[in-house]
Amino acid sequence: MSIEAVQALAKRDFTAVNQKILTALHSDVVLINQVGQYIVSSGGKRLRPLITLLAARAAGYEGEGHITAAALIEFIHTATLLHDDVVDHSDMRRGRETANELWGNEAAVLVGDFIYTRSFQMMVSLDSMPIMRILSDATNVIAEGEVMQLMNIGDPDTTEENYMNVIYSKTARLFEAAGAVAGILTREAGGDDFEKELATYGMYLGTAFQLIDDILDYTATAAEMGKNTGDDLAEGKPTLPLIYAMRAGTEEDAALIQDALVNADISKLDAILAVIEKTKSLDYTHQVAVAQAKLAIEALRRLPESPYKEALKTLANYAVERKF
Ligand code: IPE
Ligand code: IPE
Ligand code: MG
Ligand code: MG
Repeated sequence: MSIEAVQALAKRDFTAVNQKILTALHSDVVLINQVGQYIVSSGGKRLRPLITLLAARAAGYEGEGHITAAALIEFIHTATLLHDDVVDHSDMRRGRETANELWGNEAAVLVGDFIYTRSFQMMVSLDSMPIMRILSDATNVIAEGEVMQLMNIGDPDTTEENYMNVIYSKTARLFEAAGAVAGILTREAGGDDFEKELATYGMYLGTAFQLIDDILDYTATAAEMGKNTGDDLAEGKPTLPLIYAMRAGTEEDAALIQDALVNADISKLDAILAVIEKTKSLDYTHQVAVAQAKLAIEALRRLPESPYKEALKTLANYAVERKF
């Protein structure tokens, strides 16, 4: 199935999610509306809500709760991006200036808080304790992930294992929740219980997705990504492409990267890209991502065959094949 066919399959539900996002964003406070509208209208791939929608349908769900669930998951994601761009000093997102660049850190943080807390209000409206538990745990772990990553900034000794823990927490955990919630909604409506399968699918897909994001940070152009190339190095962020290159390169290669990480120094980017090339560290990172995507697809084994299940498989492949 093509990615266009996936979008067509989810179109009706997706339109309802976009509508929900717009209504739920409303506030009487002018600045909240301005910043909120700005970040939401910039688009984004909306991958997490798409997973919730397709996963619910793949599990046999026939209700409407997945619309609210998908919208609120996108809200959690949006809030983390507003905060992440402040922390990462990023000035470009979704092909436009970041909210922090336009309105300052204060507004970006506070509107992020508004969107976060709005997501909790939406969660309550679903009236399900298991869903509350999954999503409140997930948002808490995301915060831990971002703090763990902060502690790793400028640390060239960050291990691959530590990196994998960070990306699980900051990114994969929300994808896991996006799948789990679809499973819970279906079970609570009297359908089959696929919570575990869908959660596992989301977790592996989310991990693959972040691994590719970390590759693209070195390879994609700003025009393709809508974010600046080399941001991770400029921040001193030890992602797998660098962790592996330090391990596989010579002592001089490793020293070059260590230095750049410690000083958050992007001036040697070209030399570092040459080490990345020589050590094939992007191939290595890509292989790790492909293995995760494969596990995501395997997790769907027990689900009945349907176009929705095929669509979920397509998304897992898209997560590793994407170029932006
Ligand atoms: C960005 O997520 C943050 C990461 C986890 C890499 P997306 O790449 O899904 O961002 P949008 O929503 O499409 O802009
Ligand atoms: C983002 O990680 C993860 C969260 C927002 C929690 P990144 O910092 O790698 O994402 P980008 O590259 O800014 O989108
Ligand atoms: Mg960032
Ligand atoms: Mg990134």
